Amino acid sequence: MELREKSLELINKYLKNENLKKHLLATEALMRELAKKFNEDEEIWGIAGLIHDIDWELTKETPEKHSLIGAEILEKEGFPKEIVEAVRKHNHIHNFEPKTLLEKALYSCEEMTGFIVAVALVMPNKSLDEVTVERIMNKFKEPSFARGVNREIIQKCEELLGITVEELAEICLEAMKKIRDKLGL
Ligand SMILES: [Fe+2]
Repeated sequence: MELREKSLELINKYLKNENLKKHLLATEALMRELAKKFNEDEEIWGIAGLIHDIDWELTKETPEKHSLIGAEILEKEGFPKEIVEAVRKHNHIHNFEPKTLLEKALYSCEEMTGFIVAVALVMPNKSLDEVTVERIMNKFKEPSFARGVNREIIQKCEELLGITVEELAEICLEAMKKIRDKLGL
């Protein structure tokens, strides 16, 4: 079975929350764009983004196991090792050191998708059309806005990938606009 199809099946098996599924689609879109930028494998990076929170609902009560259970599931399902490892390491509470470019990208960038959703939702029409990089950056500097988003981790894109948060915001916004129908934004 094609890996993307298999990923979607697993998502439907393990996840119910529609917003979480949208977050996964947004992360897939972002990871594909980042792969393009770094001349890496778009398919592999996209799948890593798409599947990274597969254990979210299984680990609701045990957040310390988030990403570990996910990696186990993917291992059992025969996913490529590079995807399994990127998923395992993306949860920063474990203090795993992301080593490959794929691991570094998923680790530091995925939360930008949620941040952009939060920015869109405070716009009058709740649309990505109203979101600009400038608006994202202004909100990024406002600690009380979308408190749950860990700015420090996102900022690691600078040392880990050599791109600024502003560049990441731009790439992420464009990636999300490409699938806006699926995101409902
Ligand atoms: Fe995530």
